[in-house]
Amino acid sequence: MGEGINDYTKNIVDLRRHMWMAGIELELRRLIWQIAVVGKYISAKIHESNRKLAGFKNVYGEEQLALDRVSDDILKNKLAHSGFVSHYASEELEDIVAIGKGNEQYIVTADPLDGSSLVDTNLAIGTIIGVHRKSIFDTGRNSMVAALYITYGPLITMIYSAGKGAHEFVLDREGEYVLSEENIRLKEKGSIFSPGGLRKDWTDPHLKFIDKLETDGYKLRYSGGFVPDINQVIIKRGGIFTYPALKKSPNGKLRLLFELQPMAYIVEQAGGRATDGKKDILNVQVTSVNQRSPIYIGSAAEVAMAEQYLSQ
Ligand code: AHG
Ligand code: MN
Ligand code: MN
Repeated sequence: MGEGINDYTKNIVDLRRHMWMAGIELELRRLIWQIAVVGKYISAKIHESNRKLAGFKNVYGEEQLALDRVSDDILKNKLAHSGFVSHYASEELEDIVAIGKGNEQYIVTADPLDGSSLVDTNLAIGTIIGVHRKSIFDTGRNSMVAALYITYGPLITMIYSAGKGAHEFVLDREGEYVLSEENIRLKEKGSIFSPGGLRKDWTDPHLKFIDKLETDGYKLRYSGGFVPDINQVIIKRGGIFTYPALKKSPNGKLRLLFELQPMAYIVEQAGGRATDGKKDILNVQVTSVNQRSPIYIGSAAEVAMAEQYLSQ
């Protein structure tokens, strides 16, 4: 057999070791580790179901839904047996559900499969997780203790933050999450932009902001998957992702609990910013599980520029 990606005679830093060295508390470490392991199961399901059926197009809708639900079930069941999670809230469920005995300290939010409409195209998709203490009906600033997302692409990568920086791991062929980028820091200003929604539905201030980015030479990078699109901003160390308020949907499309808060948590930990155009995403009060919000997220200069345009 050929050698794996890593030489284990050397000092490899895997996810568990990294969290231990960072001094993250034991239960949170274990929880993050268990979620990262679920990423392996979800990726196996993506491989299993993607092109399995003949007449792929006809069953396309059903199959996509199935994959969303399967991912949700795996996650929920795993967390129910973790011993650390009292409640689970997911994009796939109507409401927050009690999954523990009641005395556990964490609540987990999930977008189990983000970008599910991209599965047939073989573009990258992802899983987004938020970890809260006490209640999710608060601001993310008060309730969040960690966040992570997994990108299922040519490589499976995972970025987590437990309030001590944002760090990237790559799942290697031995099934180990190996540290690839420690303490990711966004630059003050980037060179890519990722604009959601249709131009005809944008508000005037948003349209002017995007025009400015185009005039300034920002490169368009939009796949239609929040995870790979935001991951590109993070890994390229800057730029902006936005899914704005639309004329007919003033709260935009993306969900605060399942998509926006976890990414805002990670991007802030990487020295970037995330706002709804006026207010930091982590300062927005959550009142319902399905709450949506416009989002401007990325490096500081572009987010500030967005705020300036939106205040006009
Ligand atoms: P999900 O697959 O979890 O429902 O999320 C889809 C989201 C997000 O991934 C992406 O940023 C956005 O939808 C894309 O929306 P448009 O197709 O309107 O661009
Ligand atoms: Mn999503
Ligand atoms: Mn989803």
